[in-house]
Amino acid sequence: MSDNSQLFWGAAISAAQTESACDVDGKGLSIWDEFCSKKQGYIYKQSTIKNKDHMKDSCDFYYHYKEDILLLKKIGFKHFRFSIAWTRVMPDGINVNPLGVDFYKDVIDFCHENEIVPWVTLYHWDLPIELEKKGGWINREIIEWFTQYATFCVKTFSTVENWILINEPSVFLGAGYLFGIHAPGKKSFDGFLAATHHVMLSIGEAYRRLKNEFPDKSIGSSFSFTHIEPAGHKEKDYKAAELADKLVNRMFFEPLIGHGYPLGDVKKLNQITKFFKKGDEEKLITDLDFYGLQTYTREVFKHNPFNPFLKLKHVPADERTIDLTAMNWEMHAESIYKTIMKVHAYNLNRPIVVTENGAAFNDQVVLDRVNDFSRIHYFQTHINEVLRAKSDGADVKGYFAWSLLDNFEWAEGYYPRFGLIYVDFKTKKRLMKESAHWFRRFLSSQLKY
Ligand code: BGC
Repeated sequence: MSDNSQLFWGAAISAAQTESACDVDGKGLSIWDEFCSKKQGYIYKQSTIKNKDHMKDSCDFYYHYKEDILLLKKIGFKHFRFSIAWTRVMPDGINVNPLGVDFYKDVIDFCHENEIVPWVTLYHWDLPIELEKKGGWINREIIEWFTQYATFCVKTFSTVENWILINEPSVFLGAGYLFGIHAPGKKSFDGFLAATHHVMLSIGEAYRRLKNEFPDKSIGSSFSFTHIEPAGHKEKDYKAAELADKLVNRMFFEPLIGHGYPLGDVKKLNQITKFFKKGDEEKLITDLDFYGLQTYTREVFKHNPFNPFLKLKHVPADERTIDLTAMNWEMHAESIYKTIMKVHAYNLNRPIVVTENGAAFNDQVVLDRVNDFSRIHYFQTHINEVLRAKSDGADVKGYFAWSLLDNFEWAEGYYPRFGLIYVDFKTKKRLMKESAHWFRRFLSSQLKY
């Protein structure tokens, strides 16, 4: 493997996927708490999550954070990405809960005591239910709600230097507002467009206000980028792939870098302009301090004359390859090289940080070991491609493995395990998988990282 010394290395988790303790110490409910719930609540849905799994049964990071940070350190990582649950700090999205604040202060202090650099995500999909009742991301007022929450956190957790504003807009907006398979379970085209515009504006507004008040902080955001290819060599397939790239990647990134929404040729999607107010074009332009890039796989699209307005069809990975993860995602290492080079080609003059990359498998404990060799192969090949992008000129600064721990994988529940550390969700016992041991050897092979 090539020289890894030029990057920093870390592992990532998020609050909703690991903390459990959903209703203790004054925490308010989030849209995900309720989406998991079997009872009818504001969202009025039966849980659509596989096996009716509930996020409250995850890793108990709330009680085990010291053990987990020490395990991260033992592997040799020096950076830790985690998120703040908005509802722990502000149960209704507005008013402060001191006990929630104390929890994150403790986590951050413990990182520093152990010379671990915290990277804190402000929004990893767990919107306070009280804000959802007021329309959530569909209500334009959320730009102010989010910016105030972000400002409070950056001010309060003053020893944190690196902040990630909003995790993967494309995924939570598509899954939560268009297809209804993530919280808040909505399926409205107009709602999706409005929410998208408000998320993009929130990134812009929060960035500007934070930089104004805290100019020395490093403020970025993280974006899902999936490498997309046409199914065949016909021109129509190329066009389908190009359109899919706009819908899956570019729509949630380009407005922020001054290119506007790339949707002019898709009439229906261009209706997003209905939600514009005077000056929005300028307000979207953001110039973040770093771009967090998250890529897991490649997706393939082909032309489909029967699709009424988009004329494309997704070709699922299980119809075209046998090299799959437990998410039915193709293992395709070159994709991470291609996506990094694509972001590099925008010439943004800002560093790229791989804020997530990893793979899920159906891991089993056998004689106190988890032999997850497929995951080791995934990390080896993907890291090689990240280093190739770096040596080809992309300004990649760091890499976070997803995930430190097995955790609650949203609509998929607990079956797909992404962790370097195996978690027994009943006993909460942790066990380093072979991939964690591999990472330890990989990281200790270099003195500087
Ligand atoms: C999300 C994580 C998720 C991972 C694997 C990313 O979209 O940020 O929360 O667990 O992908 O699906």
